[in-house]
Amino acid sequence: MCGIVGYIGFRSVSDVLLEGLHRLEYRGYDSAGIAVMQEDHIAVRKRAGRVNELSQAVKLHPVESKVGIGHTRWATHGETTDENSHPHLGGNGEVAIVHNGVIENYDSLRNQLMEMGYVFKSQTDTEVVAHLIAHHLAEQTRLDSEEPCVATCLRAIELTLDRLKGTFGICALFQSCPETIIAARSGSPLVIGVGKDEFFLASDASPLIGYTSDVVYLADNEIAVLEPNSMKIAHRTTGSVQPSIQTLDQVSADIELGDFPHYMLKEIFEQPQSIANALRGRFDDGEGTAVIGGLNLTAQQLRTIDRVVLTACGTSWHAGLVGEYLLEEFARLPTEVEYASELRYRNPPITDRTLVFSITQSGETADTLAAMRECKRKGHPTLAICNVVGSTIAREADGGIYLHAGPEIGVASTKAFTSQVTVLTLLALYLGRMRHLSYPAGKRIIKQLKMMPEKIEEALKCHEQVQEIADKYSQFNNFLYLGRLYNFPVALEGALKLKEISYIHAEGYPAAEMKHGPIALVDEQTPSFFIVPRGGIQPKVISNMEEVKARKGPVIAVATEGDREVERIADDVITVPDVEDYLQPLVCSIPLQLFSYHVALLRGCNVDRPRNLAKSVTVE
Ligand code: F6R
Repeated sequence: MCGIVGYIGFRSVSDVLLEGLHRLEYRGYDSAGIAVMQEDHIAVRKRAGRVNELSQAVKLHPVESKVGIGHTRWATHGETTDENSHPHLGGNGEVAIVHNGVIENYDSLRNQLMEMGYVFKSQTDTEVVAHLIAHHLAEQTRLDSEEPCVATCLRAIELTLDRLKGTFGICALFQSCPETIIAARSGSPLVIGVGKDEFFLASDASPLIGYTSDVVYLADNEIAVLEPNSMKIAHRTTGSVQPSIQTLDQVSADIELGDFPHYMLKEIFEQPQSIANALRGRFDDGEGTAVIGGLNLTAQQLRTIDRVVLTACGTSWHAGLVGEYLLEEFARLPTEVEYASELRYRNPPITDRTLVFSITQSGETADTLAAMRECKRKGHPTLAICNVVGSTIAREADGGIYLHAGPEIGVASTKAFTSQVTVLTLLALYLGRMRHLSYPAGKRIIKQLKMMPEKIEEALKCHEQVQEIADKYSQFNNFLYLGRLYNFPVALEGALKLKEISYIHAEGYPAAEMKHGPIALVDEQTPSFFIVPRGGIQPKVISNMEEVKARKGPVIAVATEGDREVERIADDVITVPDVEDYLQPLVCSIPLQLFSYHVALLRGCNVDRPRNLAKSVTVE
């Protein structure tokens, strides 16, 4: 949430910052701004609205130099106005900062600063930090009775950070040190791009792609001082740190739209490839099992595990629910799926034989990170199923499995969900083969999994059919999504997709639960989406469909090709290829993703940037 960029070097800073902000816009798009070092002052341009509006403002009133910082905001404190946009100036403009995170004690700090005469222009928690830095800078300068130098600025930042409670990724510019950027983090991500005679700063690696592939991930409690030819990093308590430079393997094409009108559609259509990537190199055909290299636990340790806890938020939590069914079926391991936001404050009985997995696309979700840290604090090995390499959760976990899905930029998660389900299937196979799952059963699962990229390709052929159905139903204001067993989480996920990008009220339920309440909602104006492919307990779900039809509720079914019975009952049918029950979430999610995409378009919604949302939820 909120995206930060910074640049120091030889390029035109406005261009670098604005391009970086465009790439980070998925993290928040309420307002945007830049602060650029001028000869004798720091110039700020900021606007409520999208980065495009900021670009227009910069075109009208250009600012140029080689050093600057920028921000794209997801509002927490204060409305989305020009004044509340970042960067914020401290004192009389001696310092400018951008901030990602939340300062919990901002109110009392604000009162103290106001008493000292500081004047606030915004309602944000961030402006408190800016004034506090200016205050400590003035204090240090008085002590040294000299012009502030880099060491004084650094000291002012350190003194400020000591007084903050909450989370932050901060970048600061100082009027007195025009060739310096200071950055610090605690809880919110920051990555430094290392070029020749230049450095980049960003909340994630996307703004660095195309400029440099050498990166340093700043850890919590580290402060970086960047000058055109030097990068110094220190830990706030342990002192100087030798930066570990890592190599990014992303290329520009990964973050470009290509021929697609939206990232969401691009990412839906990438799923044959992203699933193939999740599976690549992860089969042991000889043993009929999966190859899972990164758990950092011995086979003996894994055999003693008697319970699994999966923790996540949103779509990743839905993937976790599919994981629960898979782990219990293949590995006979009792599994619980916990909302990370609940787990972090609960004290569930987790023993040293419990395996805790955090599932997260971004690897930065504040609640998931906090839940993982809580489990770690209690001494449990913490593992992650994560997409973003180098993200905080990926780095702090004791081990884990990467999705290799490539950057997911559309705010609504699509390909990450199917990759999470794919990886959880591999994990269940792996743990299953250490327990009760037979060799032939393992071989069969592998065979089915290998066919999935092709099956997803086939499932995507429903695109036109879904477009027509979206046309027919786009003006309805309430939807039910119903499925059972492996398709219950798919129903939840389908409803979430519709809610988040079309702003239509939708509820997901286990189909049979409908009779215990939600059936009261059924009428001619409330369509029900039934996820009802062949297999499992399909006849029971068909009965639930009949119950809805009997009450005049329109029924849209996601069914297996050629299923005449479903065709007879449902008003509209979208067909998906025939796969085994446990793989149905992968194929059945495709039409639901496409449906919400097209309904959102028809309703004039911003598909890739839905209102009120942000891709990485780095605040609690
Ligand atoms: C919905 C969506 C969110 C995320 C959730 C967790 O489409 O994207 O519900 O799934 O915010 O995010 P990660 O997986 O990054 O931890």
